[in-house]
Amino acid sequence: MQYKPGKILIDGEMISRKVSEMAAEVARCYFGREFIAVGILKGAIFFLADLVRCLPLESRVKIDFMAVSSYGASTKSSGIVKIVKDLDTDIKGKHVLLVEDILDTGLTLSYLQTLLLGREPASLRTCVLLDKPDRRRIEVAVDFKGFSIPDEFVVGYGLDYSGYWRNLPDIHAADPSVESEEKTLLEE
Ligand code: IMP
Ligand code: MG
Repeated sequence: MQYKPGKILIDGEMISRKVSEMAAEVARCYFGREFIAVGILKGAIFFLADLVRCLPLESRVKIDFMAVSSYGASTKSSGIVKIVKDLDTDIKGKHVLLVEDILDTGLTLSYLQTLLLGREPASLRTCVLLDKPDRRRIEVAVDFKGFSIPDEFVVGYGLDYSGYWRNLPDIHAADPSVESEEKTLLEE
């Protein structure tokens, strides 16, 4: 099944207000301490970019990325997390902030938290922009959370369906495409 962007759930202005509130909390938490913000590619790119740019001048933050895949071209989590790109940084003894676009079943973040804790960081915290609490399959500790949303597949602001729609500035509910019906109508 194909999905297209449907109605806007959270517009760009709401996102930027929330992201700057979250950045203020993050800055308070790491006051006087250096930390590494680890973005989970590709969904977290815009969130991470906006979040770190809202931090105050005196913040000592480095950024790094991990790429994982678990979804393929489906809207259901396979539960299998594959590390496609690992960190460039050795995080042992460092303060680490995991930055993720969305917490859904929790399988991805739970896997990553366990993996990174095994590398003995000084601390590990987690920051997510969106949370779909109804879909949780495993409990995950989250320190900074943006919006809770209903159990709907969403696209935009980094979130994709099959690689598309990440570029949209707003977050949309994804609608099943009516492509084949449209085609039939055009052919008639
Ligand atoms: P989890 O392992 O089920 O928590 O899934 C987390 C990952 O699934 C996220 O990093 C997203 O890449 C993807 N995901 C979950 N829900 C959505 C959605 O509504 N739209 C787009 N991607 C999603
Ligand atoms: Mg993701």
